[in-house]
Amino acid sequence: MTGMAHLGALDQGTSGTRFVIFDGDGTPIAEAFTGHQPQTSGADRIEYDPLKLWGCATDAIRRGLAQADLDAAELRALGISSQRQTVLLWDAESGRPCTSALSWRDRRTVAQIEALDEAERRLIRDRTGLEPDAYFAAPSAKWLLDEGGKSDRRSGRVGGAAGRDSDRPETDLRARAERGEVLLGTVDSWLCYNLTGRHVTDVTNAAQTMLFDIHEREWDDELLALFDVPRAALPVVRPSSDPEGFGATDPDGVLNAEVPVTGVMGDQQAALLGRVGCAEGDAKVTYGTGNFFLQNTGTEPVDAGGELLTTIWFQRAGEEPYYGLEGPVFATGAVLEWLRTVGLLEDAAGLDQPECTEGDGSVYFVPAFGGLGAPDWATDAQGGVFGLHRDTDREDLLRAAVEAIGFGTRAVVEAAENATGVTHERLLVDGGAIQDDEFAQCQADLIDRTLVRSDVTQTTALGAGFAAGLAVGVWDSLDDLERCRPTGRTFTPSGDADAVADAYRRWRDVVETVARMGR
Ligand code: G3P
Repeated sequence: MTGMAHLGALDQGTSGTRFVIFDGDGTPIAEAFTGHQPQTSGADRIEYDPLKLWGCATDAIRRGLAQADLDAAELRALGISSQRQTVLLWDAESGRPCTSALSWRDRRTVAQIEALDEAERRLIRDRTGLEPDAYFAAPSAKWLLDEGGKSDRRSGRVGGAAGRDSDRPETDLRARAERGEVLLGTVDSWLCYNLTGRHVTDVTNAAQTMLFDIHEREWDDELLALFDVPRAALPVVRPSSDPEGFGATDPDGVLNAEVPVTGVMGDQQAALLGRVGCAEGDAKVTYGTGNFFLQNTGTEPVDAGGELLTTIWFQRAGEEPYYGLEGPVFATGAVLEWLRTVGLLEDAAGLDQPECTEGDGSVYFVPAFGGLGAPDWATDAQGGVFGLHRDTDREDLLRAAVEAIGFGTRAVVEAAENATGVTHERLLVDGGAIQDDEFAQCQADLIDRTLVRSDVTQTTALGAGFAAGLAVGVWDSLDDLERCRPTGRTFTPSGDADAVADAYRRWRDVVETVARMGR
């Protein structure tokens, strides 16, 4: 390891962009965050202006460097982690966006998924390890290629046109994409393109598009045909930690220096690397807009019978990839947002308030705001609150919401335990909501597992930093990361485990009923 190495990590998430500078021990020395809001229209449309995403990234980079009092030239390398599945099109020549970026939370393509026949569903599962759902980039990419160039008849703005280059006719996006004049990529690709001029992505982001064969590790022709996505528009896929693959930043660009980009990862996979979850069986849950469980299953893919996703979570250049089992629970932080929107919680309040556990436990909350993800996978499920009675009050509803977050996570942990035979006596947790001690303890009780919370709050950025640093020799091997493993605080389940288990089973019965209605 080199003495004074500094690494930059750009983490572009659902609600904002963060730039963190780490030293060679993995200690953060500066951190800047710039928030951004997606544009929404109706219940199913959520998208970003790509120029605003890029603007947030440049803002966070500049402020992070100023805070550290560093010249970008002093950075050994740059890593990028990003929200996965969010996808956009841009012009290969001008670099201007041709469409908005459709968010992973956008549900306008549910009908495309429902129209898939059994053979097509099997093809998707076999090649990609994913469960067919509007969550992934492929149906959004098809929508953008079909509709992204047309003006939106319903809202005039939201509908694929925000931030695009108004000088060019965009009505022939697919034809132009077939000629390589229009490029298609997820957010990591968009950031790379703007930083280094290369059209690239990494295996972990590609693995979440539903167009990528995780066994052959290449874009799959049959899936490209199924979603009508031209190969010529797609990025080159590189290992996540790669000294050559992603290029170097433009010396005349935002960093004013040529810094190699050597680590690119999907944010959930990066969080597992940030926890040094490198041993087979290690698993983490990141609390964000959703909760994302990810377990390292080693160098062989493991099938979880359609309940969890099989995916690639890390690869170093010249080595075989590591596979994982993932359980995305789509709405957890989003539950908090909703409680504030409907006035059940004060704007600034979190789910750590005493009133959030005071209810009588008779109400069941199913937060299927965008269908249900793992382990139920019901694309068109609608959420609901069940068990209402005349005396139901605000506290009952708040408790039901807190339980839904914990029980949703418990369901994916149990699915992973069933699929792998690995018992998660200790689960790594990180992310925003879990920073509160009361809430973390409550989640340990509901999940009925010991939770180990990282003392480094930005584990996603740390993972991107590790990926970048591994490629340039700041760390020699995954074993070498061990000495930089973030320390953590442990929360052990307390209270009446049997009563919690009964409540969990009743909640699962309700969710399974809702899921059946949404399939
Ligand atoms: O799959 C979506 C996920 O990558 C988003 O994560 O932390 O930005 O909400 P986050």
